[in-house]
Amino acid sequence: MTMPTNTSSSPIAYPDPSSALPAGLPDPATLTRLANEFFAAFPGSTPAGNGVPGSAPSELAAAAPALPASTNPVPPGSPMAGPSGAGSGIPGAAMPQGKVPGANLAPSAPTHVLSLGNRAPALLPHAAAQNGLPDNLVTVAPGLDSRYGGTALGVPEAAAANLPADGAPGRSSASPYYFMNLDRPQTHGGQNAPLPTVSLFDPLSVPSLLPAGESAQAIPPQGSARGFTGTAPVQPDTTERYFLDDIRSPGTPASSRRSDPVAQAQSGHPQFDVNAIRRDFPILQERVNGRQLVWFDNAATTQKPQTVIDRLAYFYLHENSNIHRAAHALAGRATDAYEGARSRVQRFIGASQPEEIVFVRGTTEAINLIAKSWGVQNMGAGDEIIVSHLEHHANIVPWQQLASLAGAKLRVIPVDDSGQVLLEEYSRLLNDKTKIVAVTQVSNALGTVVPVKDIVEMAHRVGAVALIDGAQSVSHMRVDVQALDADFFVFSGHKVFGPTGIGAVYGKRALLDAMPPWQGGGNMISDVTFERTTFQPAPHRFEAGTGNIADAVGLGAAIDYVTRVGIENIARYEHELLDYATGLMKPIPGVRLIGTAQDKASVLSFVLNGYTPEEVGRALSEEGIAVRAGHHCAQPILRRFGLEATVRPSLAFYNTPEEVDRMIAVVKRLARH
Ligand code: ALA
Repeated sequence: MTMPTNTSSSPIAYPDPSSALPAGLPDPATLTRLANEFFAAFPGSTPAGNGVPGSAPSELAAAAPALPASTNPVPPGSPMAGPSGAGSGIPGAAMPQGKVPGANLAPSAPTHVLSLGNRAPALLPHAAAQNGLPDNLVTVAPGLDSRYGGTALGVPEAAAANLPADGAPGRSSASPYYFMNLDRPQTHGGQNAPLPTVSLFDPLSVPSLLPAGESAQAIPPQGSARGFTGTAPVQPDTTERYFLDDIRSPGTPASSRRSDPVAQAQSGHPQFDVNAIRRDFPILQERVNGRQLVWFDNAATTQKPQTVIDRLAYFYLHENSNIHRAAHALAGRATDAYEGARSRVQRFIGASQPEEIVFVRGTTEAINLIAKSWGVQNMGAGDEIIVSHLEHHANIVPWQQLASLAGAKLRVIPVDDSGQVLLEEYSRLLNDKTKIVAVTQVSNALGTVVPVKDIVEMAHRVGAVALIDGAQSVSHMRVDVQALDADFFVFSGHKVFGPTGIGAVYGKRALLDAMPPWQGGGNMISDVTFERTTFQPAPHRFEAGTGNIADAVGLGAAIDYVTRVGIENIARYEHELLDYATGLMKPIPGVRLIGTAQDKASVLSFVLNGYTPEEVGRALSEEGIAVRAGHHCAQPILRRFGLEATVRPSLAFYNTPEEVDRMIAVVKRLARH
């Protein structure tokens, strides 16, 4: 909408159009008076403004309550720009003209302007706004609006109708979304409305509402700090190690490798657009102590993209029910959504069938389930359980409890001074009494990437089963439970950009089928009399009671998000960022890095001479930087290094080298005093 700009104190002179008015219409003065009376009747309106000729834009803005400014406005002239400056978020989706953009956002629609500006608003107001202004903000095609159903928010029947018969969309590089490579044109409801993304996998998909490639030019690019290229590939990495071999080629200094444009060109990896990613995580705009939040506590929990937040809201708005499919329509929707999430977990970790996935609260409950079901059934006096020195308490305590119950023994794989497990020592621990080996894939305290494939293989040679704790790995590297030949694999949704209170156990089908239930109650039975109960097959036999349905669905959305960005892209970007941070942290006088294994992911644990970890954590928090300082629920491994606590920055793919620089500046300042 074009508004006159009042650049002087005198009123703007408008051409008198009255002579052109058809006979019988009120004159402009009357129209103006009527319009003023009309708008003045709304609560919160101001005497001037409200779109009446003569109102300057600033007065107009005053009609809408103050909103936080979009931090990533789209520059004028950008094809993505919408009248609000934030863009429609969808290439080709024009903002409606002649309406006041965003005028009716804040009082009745609390969704952050950032999310409304940059993606399809799933939360467009459904009812009359409390401020009385009309709901004019329509930034998306109708196919994306939950009121119309459609694939955007996963209304199953509508989504299915939109999919090709095989449900498997083709790929091409024509997509405007830098990580998508999907080219199937989308229409909905007879309108040629381009949908932002499409289902990667199945008809219950909730396509991402991410306009990720949309406005890289909108703000000064991050990821450009000294020597940091922030490149990431789109093509899947076929190497077994999650990081680039060319980054690690021996004898070449890390910094020169990072910034070598020839190497980058040869690798063919397009720039990883961290700015686009960051716009998908509204909480990253939060301010803490006057500074923009830096979230370096990703090993404790990760932040959630807007798609996950929207998916949870959508579930409660349109699908909420218990999961007894046949009872009624919403039960069917909820069951489909829940089982759709199970299938997503299955594919994400490479399981062969959804029945191998049991939903639980998180990794801790997952390991308890295995210890209390498989463990109680299979462990006896004199049997042995092996864990590594790196384990989180969640992968120690349930085994201690089992050992004391069964009369079994807990044995521990030692680590070297870098924090890597010693495979030779491990081979010495294995024998025919070993019944289970339970190890983490990535250490939460040190970041060590453990060679779990070797560990599983060695366990199998003595007839033991192997459990991998994937809590810290799934968000950083490709996991393929079949390639690893893991018997059990467990992880938490909240560490992989999903909700808290949901996680999964993968178990090989034959193992799960042979295991007894560990909790009894509703949902897990097939028949109950007072004399005896028979149980459902796996996985339902292990899901007693009403589970965390909505959060399972939210986890499915998180997996969709990660899949679209590409886990290999994430791994490479994070690896470079960790290298960058390590290179800056190491030379600071008084800093001691804890965990220096060659293969590391995400974590940069350290202590600083003259300060407790808590003091360093507080100093960082004062600057808006969130890290965990403490024992990280992994006391044995910290004590191995003579410590009770460390400062633990832990990175994710939405972090930037500029954020690393902010942290380094604080640590350097402390180190000088
Ligand atoms: N396991 C979580 C951490 O490492 C809580 O911080």
